[in-house]
Amino acid sequence: MSKENKKTVVCSWNEWDPLKHVIVGRADGTMVQAPEPAIQRDWPEYGYPFGKYGPLPKEMEEKVKEQLDNFAKLLERRGIRVDRPTPLDFSQQVQTPDWKQESMFGCMPPRDLLLTVGNEILEATMSFRSRWYEYLCYRPLLERYFKEDPNFRWEAAPKPRLTERTYKKNFWNEFNAKSKEEQIKHTYAKDWVLTEAEPLFDAADVARFGKDLFVQRSTVTNAGGISWLRRHFPNHRIHEVTFKEEAPMHIDATFVPLRPGLALSNKGRAPLTPELKELFKKNDWEIVECATPAHDKKHKLSYCSIWLSMNVLMLDSKTVCVEAEENAQMKQLEKLGFDVIPVPFWAVSPFGGGLHCATADVYREGTCEDYFPKQIKGF
Ligand code: ALA
Repeated sequence: MSKENKKTVVCSWNEWDPLKHVIVGRADGTMVQAPEPAIQRDWPEYGYPFGKYGPLPKEMEEKVKEQLDNFAKLLERRGIRVDRPTPLDFSQQVQTPDWKQESMFGCMPPRDLLLTVGNEILEATMSFRSRWYEYLCYRPLLERYFKEDPNFRWEAAPKPRLTERTYKKNFWNEFNAKSKEEQIKHTYAKDWVLTEAEPLFDAADVARFGKDLFVQRSTVTNAGGISWLRRHFPNHRIHEVTFKEEAPMHIDATFVPLRPGLALSNKGRAPLTPELKELFKKNDWEIVECATPAHDKKHKLSYCSIWLSMNVLMLDSKTVCVEAEENAQMKQLEKLGFDVIPVPFWAVSPFGGGLHCATADVYREGTCEDYFPKQIKGF
């Protein structure tokens, strides 16, 4: 059957059931975004000191396009349908009645924005002004899925206002001037740039384990965002989690399910929620610490960490895509019984992440299972 004739079915409950249909992001026009209260970019050593913004260098973009296209082809060769978003001109100024923002960001990481839970795809609120309109890149696909799948539930979380009330004043200047010891105190206090003026979350702060969704409190996901998700998914159990990381953003290089009974944990970022370990133990889940990453420092112009080593994409519960330079991570996963597919992808990091970030599930086989029948009160 040709790709065009295949009818869409939206459904995915977890990160490991057999993957049949996925969105892979695009690199075109990705920006070092203009200053905004949610985040600071400051890379003087690479020509982008604080305040300067503009497109990522063309030669970097060309390489990333090639890596993304090759990844998409690899998935298609394995019988997985791949759709791609429609980039906008991310260098344009955007505004709402409340604010103006001098540039957008890009559409490489669909995982940040789209949360698939069963037959629903939910557009996350996001918390960067530069990412407020990013959902438009996915609208051609979502409109199509809506027409083709009568059971597809297309949802969007309330668009946030993102006024000055949403952000703590001067947060990043003060935070960046602190030592690591002082910065980590923010994590223990769950005190980052976002206020609780309105619910905010990125989809990539959610790890899907069937009936249980683990949601990280982070620099982009506040308590209101988690409360909103809890009310929106009343048939799921939403567990708020935190990890030992100074400025967390997205759970998928920190705590990653691999198959029923096995999850990968970041060895540099211990879980700060003791209930997490207890819940896993009680339900016979093993948590293994990830391997040492191949790189010892971030990619040039990247806000993502070296821990993209564990930002893997499961094609099914036996097969895993891992960044091709991550030899130790590949070896560890092989030892754990997985077939490992190496995928060259490190160049993608400055464009917004690794293999999991660069994808969003549309369809995986399987149903909603309860993998944690023994719950812990209050978690
Ligand atoms: N933002 C996450 C990290 O780089 C994916 O660790």
